[in-house]
Amino acid sequence: MQFPTIRPRRLRRSAALRRLVRETAVSVSDLVYPLFVTHGKDIKQPIASMPGVYQMSPEHILQEGEKCLELGIPAIMLFGLPAYKDEKGSSAYDPQEIVPQAVQLLKRELPELLVMTDVCLCGYTSHGHCGVIENGQVHNDSTLPLLAQTALAHAQAGADMVAPSDMMDGRVAAIRKLLDQHHYEEVPVLSYAVKYASAFYGPFRQAADSTPQFGDRRSYQMDPANVREALKEVEQDLAEGADLVMVKPALSYLDVIRAVKEKTNVPVVAYNVSGEYSLVKAAAEKGWLEERKIVLEMLLSMKRAGADIILTYHAKDAALWLREEA
Ligand code: PBG
Repeated sequence: MQFPTIRPRRLRRSAALRRLVRETAVSVSDLVYPLFVTHGKDIKQPIASMPGVYQMSPEHILQEGEKCLELGIPAIMLFGLPAYKDEKGSSAYDPQEIVPQAVQLLKRELPELLVMTDVCLCGYTSHGHCGVIENGQVHNDSTLPLLAQTALAHAQAGADMVAPSDMMDGRVAAIRKLLDQHHYEEVPVLSYAVKYASAFYGPFRQAADSTPQFGDRRSYQMDPANVREALKEVEQDLAEGADLVMVKPALSYLDVIRAVKEKTNVPVVAYNVSGEYSLVKAAAEKGWLEERKIVLEMLLSMKRAGADIILTYHAKDAALWLREEA
């Protein structure tokens, strides 16, 4: 049968009908808000390329955590700006450093807020790479114990979930093993399993002060051309004990989110990264597009592609808008 018997427009005639047949929805419960914590007091340093995003000292991070809870956002992801950097990224696994400190504060004051931590070395190494350098290369196996130590320091401080983003092979297993040895067997690992070498991270590197000082990350992050390889990464990380898997970036990789979703039965996380945020903010500032509608449409597309959870710098705005639309 076909037109005129079949008329898809029949189900689009009113708001109520459209609501009734809607297939996908974004919920505030799906959102995770990324935050950048720095040492000091009363610091709220704007990131030029990410309007509305700041490097913040712990008491401001705490306020942000409170806001998230008020808005119904269940979780935050913490990135740290350490006091010192060296070749081996020692400040990443220093229990006195900024991330463990901030985690302790957050969990003491806001126990119901889920605190996730980014586990990587790039913000902590003097050279800005995600692993240690040997003979001019990012060396995989000697990086693993350092990542595991970092995850352990976060878990000991009270982190609810650790999220390795370095893209070293075998890091999920190394982290799982060390956490279990120290009786943190209940702390889940969210693996940035599918992380592409993407130009969309540009603004983040300013925010996290994590730009590589030589070369680029293409020897460890994935080639944007590949999708079968994404499934291999996911399979490997799940075999090593990952509890959730992430695809990053999100917007140019919706096909990858879909492919991962179809192959797995763990929660799939999408990272709506810094560059995706900056694009929207810049165009909105110029009055070239409607920020609210664009953001909600983008988040919806990630859900439709198969994301269960979305990390996004738009989380607080989106939470308000979703509340108004409900
Ligand atoms: C650290 C890390 C990066 C992001 C999250 N964790 C940057 C990178 O790999 O250079 C990017 C997040 C964003 O762009 O919002 N390895």
